[in-house]
Amino acid sequence: MLIPADAIQERLAVMARQIDEDYADLDDTLLLVGVLKGAFVIMADLARYISIPNSVDFMAVSSYGSSTRSSGVVRILKDLDTEIEGRHVLIVEDIIDSGLTLDYLVHNLESRGPASVEIVTLLAKPDRRRVEMPVRYIGFEVPDVFVVGYGLDFDERYRNLSCIATLKPEVYGEA
Ligand code: IMP
Ligand code: MG
Repeated sequence: MLIPADAIQERLAVMARQIDEDYADLDDTLLLVGVLKGAFVIMADLARYISIPNSVDFMAVSSYGSSTRSSGVVRILKDLDTEIEGRHVLIVEDIIDSGLTLDYLVHNLESRGPASVEIVTLLAKPDRRRVEMPVRYIGFEVPDVFVVGYGLDFDERYRNLSCIATLKPEVYGEA
């Protein structure tokens, strides 16, 4: 176990209070855009910790590559249901690894004319970053290890863990 469940919940509550403050004066609802599948857990918790009016939408993307390494080639499997022109958009992510997926998403969403696009992520692996982008809210920085739980999977397993845990290298065969 790397991050226990109660530490995640405490951190999300603090991040939500910051988000409440930063977006206090919106005329419109804040649009939370979750990146499926991994963000479904943080989305459910964060949307409830945030007190200001918010709406929720999801995108599904696939990045080609092996199960533990992202390639940067992104395909949209499910697009937003909502038009985001003029809206304040907060992308909700489980983890930023190389940053390639989010870099693509940010540019894609920005081309639709939103009022703003910011990012909130539970986890970030600073050592692995290949594209620099401003990430407004980061829950925890983690070392370069493969993690599962709280939405994050290995081969579609472990998403339902309430904590963040590491996998032994022999499990994913890249030791
Ligand atoms: P990036 O494009 O390299 O930033 O990768 C982002 C996506 O890769 C995340 O949304 C996850 O789905 C996946 N990913 C990256 N690192 C991990 C990890 O340690 N465990 C599980 N999934 C990961
Ligand atoms: Mg993901």
